[in-house]
Amino acid sequence: MSPLIHLSNNWISLVGVVLVTTTTVLWLFLLPVTLKGETENPYLGMVAFLTIPGPFFGGLMLIPLGMWLKRRREGHTGIYPPEFPTLTWSNPELRKLVYFIGATTVVNVVIGSQVAYSAVNYMDSVSFCGKTCHTVMEPEFTAYQDSPHSRVECVKCHIGPGAGWFVKSKLSGTRQLLAVTFKTYPRPIPTPVHNLRPARETCEACHWPQKYGEDRVRVINKFADDEANSLTKTVLLMKIGGGNHGIGIHGTHLGPGVTIRYAASDEQRQNIPWVEYNGPGRQTLYATADAKPNGGGAPREMDCMDCHNRPSHSYDLPDRGMDKAMAAGLISNTLPFAKKKAVEILKGNYPTRDEAAQKIPAAFLKYYQDTYPGIYAQRQAEITASAKQVLAVWNRNIFPEMKVAWGAYPINIGHTDYPGCFRCHDGGHNAKDGKSISQDCNACHNLLAMDEAAPKILTDLGVVESKTK
Ligand code: HEC
Ligand code: HEC
Ligand code: HEC
Ligand code: HEC
Ligand code: HEC
Repeated sequence: MSPLIHLSNNWISLVGVVLVTTTTVLWLFLLPVTLKGETENPYLGMVAFLTIPGPFFGGLMLIPLGMWLKRRREGHTGIYPPEFPTLTWSNPELRKLVYFIGATTVVNVVIGSQVAYSAVNYMDSVSFCGKTCHTVMEPEFTAYQDSPHSRVECVKCHIGPGAGWFVKSKLSGTRQLLAVTFKTYPRPIPTPVHNLRPARETCEACHWPQKYGEDRVRVINKFADDEANSLTKTVLLMKIGGGNHGIGIHGTHLGPGVTIRYAASDEQRQNIPWVEYNGPGRQTLYATADAKPNGGGAPREMDCMDCHNRPSHSYDLPDRGMDKAMAAGLISNTLPFAKKKAVEILKGNYPTRDEAAQKIPAAFLKYYQDTYPGIYAQRQAEITASAKQVLAVWNRNIFPEMKVAWGAYPINIGHTDYPGCFRCHDGGHNAKDGKSISQDCNACHNLLAMDEAAPKILTDLGVVESKTK
């Protein structure tokens, strides 16, 4: 033993010892959290299982390397001792080594426990998921902040509780880290997410089936393309109801004993030629005229995500984005043709965020300077403020670095901007007996008013200032 103690007293080996003890201590602190699945974050596992072994084995190799170098050096110069004292506490080299390891371990335990604790907390946080890979996550993070789920942590939907999916996502987390490091990730990030945890285990932790189920009134504001940006309202009574009674939108697809399977012919699940309904007491197969038997592809069981595919990351088309901004009073609706002009400008091509920041407000201002110089002179501040908000609509929905352009991520609720419900409810999906999946305008909603300036129903209900879509 004695020669080993002597040889290990060199800087290279000691650095190796520090690396080995530090990583071991860190790993021991992280081990219980990652094994018990107390944290739901894949990246933490990545640190534990991917980054720690590197320095650990590196340190392990430095120790003999330092010893070998020292042996060679001392052999050459002849200082290598021919004999060694016995290994007792009075041996200064042994004492030095023991003190050194003891001191580094104490320091490591103190620092390691703090680091491990904050790492666990930090990696579960929204800011870690949303901001660490800033460019990659920017579109989702931006939309998320503006969604009904802006207070729900990313990991609640993307990983959920328990160890099983934690390990699965840990594996894909590792792959993603490599993709980001080497910039091999696809742009835009493809949707749907194929290995997303089934909704039953994520969404239903908060929206349990016995709970959802009341119908609700939806008011949608639209501003026209005319000079006055005329505002009209559509009022729908959404028949969400009866989740547990097999009726309404939720009940017919997800009620007790109901499963619907479908096959899509494209990656984004926008073309659905084949649908199989399994309900209490009957099975019905619906298909389009050109559908292959069994749909051709692997069937998928319908869940929340097939309708609510953008609960947290939804992007508007220019028209809808403008309607929302005008309804919120951010863009003046008293400027002539503001809606029409802004939509035109938004649809332009701006390869970078900087270019958009220059050109979009400038184009809006120029329109009023050229076409309505009188109004421009009088209301310059209002026009400038609106111009900034037109840019904000663009910034909220377009991400050139990630190639997220208008319409990159279809929304499956509805049927006006994207196929949505009409992927199946288009009247073209027929059963053998000629029955088709309903396209009845009153099956999903009662159309209480459609594009009316002042719907009577809203006055009757006493709705004064309605929330917009
Ligand atoms: C309310 C649940 C929920 C929350 C919270 C949530 N997501 Fe998502 N996310 C989803 C769903 C659902 C999809 C799309 C699934 C599909 O279409 O297959 C998705 C998709 C994604 C995608 C894939 C690209 C895309 O847009 O389809 C990324 C990246 C993403 N989310 C990142 C995040 C980040 C980062 C956060 C936190 C800042 C977050 N998500 C929070 C539910 C959520
Ligand atoms: C951690 C809890 C949590 C999870 C998980 C969760 N949600 Fe929510 N969700 C909420 C809360 C809270 C609200 C209410 C927000 C509000 O009222 O503004 C909400 C609101 C909604 C709404 C109504 C939005 C609106 O326009 O009023 C829908 C739809 C929805 N969630 C769908 C989903 C789907 C789909 C998933 C799974 C991908 C999911 N949620 C996962 C907590 C959660
Ligand atoms: C067939 C499509 C479809 C499926 C499947 C579906 N939903 Fe919905 N859901 C809707 C529609 C449509 C609305 C009404 C949207 C609106 O008001 O504009 C809605 C509304 C909601 C709301 C808000 C209304 C409320 O009662 O608070 C929540 C929350 C919600 N869904 C959660 C879920 C969850 C969780 C699942 C999965 C268990 C699910 N939905 C499955 C279509 C669906
Ligand atoms: C994957 C295909 C598919 C999609 C997408 C889909 N549905 Fe359905 N829907 C069905 C099937 C299948 C039935 C049941 C037909 C039957 O009873 O045999 C159904 C039935 C319904 C019913 C009951 C109709 C009636 O006449 O009783 C409503 C309401 C409904 N869907 C609403 C929606 C809404 C709202 C959306 C979009 C948010 C939607 N569905 C999207 C397949 C789909
Ligand atoms: C399968 C269910 C379903 C059927 C059938 C259906 N709708 Fe809808 N409709 C929806 C849903 C879901 C929305 C979206 C509500 C929201 O924005 O949250 C919607 C939204 C609308 C809107 C508002 C559009 C907007 O600009 O946001 C109008 C108008 C409308 N539907 C008219 C109709 C008419 C007319 C028919 C008959 C041809 C019809 N719908 C049939 C489910 C359906």
